[in-house]
Amino acid sequence: QAQTPLDRQTDILEAAAALAQRELEHEGSGHDWWHIRRVTELAKRIGAAEGADLFICELAALLHDLADEKLVADPESGIRRTANWMLEHGVAEADTDRIMEIIATMSFKGGSGRPMSTLEGRVVQDADRLDAIGAIGIARTFVYSGKKGRPMHDPNLPVRQNMTPEEYRSGNDTAINHFYEKLLLLKDRLNTPCGRRIADSRHAYMEEFLERFDREWNGADLLDG
Ligand code: ADP
Ligand code: NI
Repeated sequence: QAQTPLDRQTDILEAAAALAQRELEHEGSGHDWWHIRRVTELAKRIGAAEGADLFICELAALLHDLADEKLVADPESGIRRTANWMLEHGVAEADTDRIMEIIATMSFKGGSGRPMSTLEGRVVQDADRLDAIGAIGIARTFVYSGKKGRPMHDPNLPVRQNMTPEEYRSGNDTAINHFYEKLLLLKDRLNTPCGRRIADSRHAYMEEFLERFDREWNGADLLDG
């Protein structure tokens, strides 16, 4: 594996953070800079616990949403741009390849659901998925739905559990339905033991939230007092 000196790595990570901050600062669909910040911190923690290459984890996390279908018209060009950025900033070719593989696998969500081929990819994917569940995940879901002008809940719509990514992006999806079609399923899709451990309490919190939401919606909590 090609080695980049440590001080060089620090410079690259700082430049990548500045790039992500610049590009995603005004992003309103849940991929804002703070999402990147949280995913990066999670990836460092999980990566350390799993014995992954932390430079790869951190750099991939910082760059992981720059080629997202929601942000750029064409993920291919977003991915090429990110690769060029890394090479221009002195990231070794072998490292660039590994990171591109991670970002590409994460960016094409509608795709085959191809599994991550590297430990670092499994770590960063876990970090991204963990930021979609728990209290933060709940908040992001309602922000996303609100931005799309969708209702938070509609009891007359059937609960859809097996929508394709294309369907739930275009459909008359509600925020509450997004939990059933995706968020509640993420716990069992995590790759690493450390990720699964963190997911447990975040998942339980979402379940409790949904239960309370339902009780309040139906007025069931009014009878308690
Ligand atoms: P990421 O790229 O970070 O993996 P996504 O692009 O899938 O995440 O979505 C960004 C945020 O918006 C996440 O918190 C996700 O749960 C939320 N989101 C995505 N699709 C929907 C939807 N149809 N309804 C509500 N929230 C959604
Ligand atoms: Ni993300």
